[in-house]
Amino acid sequence: MATIIDGKELSRKKRSEITAQSEEFARTYGRPPGLAVVLVGSDPASAIYVRNKGIACGQTGIRSFEYRLDEKTTQQELLALIDELNGRDEVDGILVQLPIPKHLNEKEVLLRIDPAKDVDGFHPFNMGMLLMGSPTLVPCTPRGIMEMLHEYGVEIRGKDAVVIGRSNIVGKPIALLLMMEHATITICHSRTRDLKDKIKRADIVVAAIGKEEMIRGDWIKDGAVVIDVGMNRSETGKLKGDVEFSEAEKHASMITPVPGGVGPMTITMLLDNTLIAAKARLS
Ligand code: GUN
Repeated sequence: MATIIDGKELSRKKRSEITAQSEEFARTYGRPPGLAVVLVGSDPASAIYVRNKGIACGQTGIRSFEYRLDEKTTQQELLALIDELNGRDEVDGILVQLPIPKHLNEKEVLLRIDPAKDVDGFHPFNMGMLLMGSPTLVPCTPRGIMEMLHEYGVEIRGKDAVVIGRSNIVGKPIALLLMMEHATITICHSRTRDLKDKIKRADIVVAAIGKEEMIRGDWIKDGAVVIDVGMNRSETGKLKGDVEFSEAEKHASMITPVPGGVGPMTITMLLDNTLIAAKARLS
């Protein structure tokens, strides 16, 4: 049976370190680190994420500024808010919850955020620095995954890592981070042929597709490490991963559960990125 990679427990540990650092920041600079979170529209999943981010800030001594904008917000209104937040001294990090409504231009929005406050790491400057091997602010989910692999002593150098999903949020950046630590990377996606065969060869599997239990447990090589980024609401209302956990845990040496794996670490890394941005701005 596999070791369960406990993202909740690791988050608790990291968050207590972050709290101590936020308190020290506040003592030094006379104000806490600040994170602005912008939600446009009323997507229920996004609303839950944004609420959880606000709660997590409160628990770690980070001041949270929440903006809930109407579904019909115009591009100009959203850009004007970002400009205002870019200019506000007590805001160290800015996050626009994705997806935003279809009438808005996401690329233009992400480009408008000051790269020094881009705690999501989605701005082309930060993405480009990561691509060049000099990471600045790194996207939160991939950072959380690397923290878990390090904490559990997973050897990465020389290993075959298969990433399923090619998003800017997870797939591309996690592939780069694993490559920087000398893994050999295969990035798979919806048009990949023989997905099962590729996964069967992987020492490290990162699943970020968004399809409930699409990766069958018996595709996992014996001894592989499985990281499941999936957060799929099943018909019964339960949260399910992209990997068939019940069967995969019989083959894997380590595996992340859903919930309680990658999810909590993503928010923890957002808090940490906010602290990093705050320190970098003021020092
Ligand atoms: N939507 C899903 N994941 C994320 C994330 O990490 N950041 C933002 N801003 N939106 C998301």
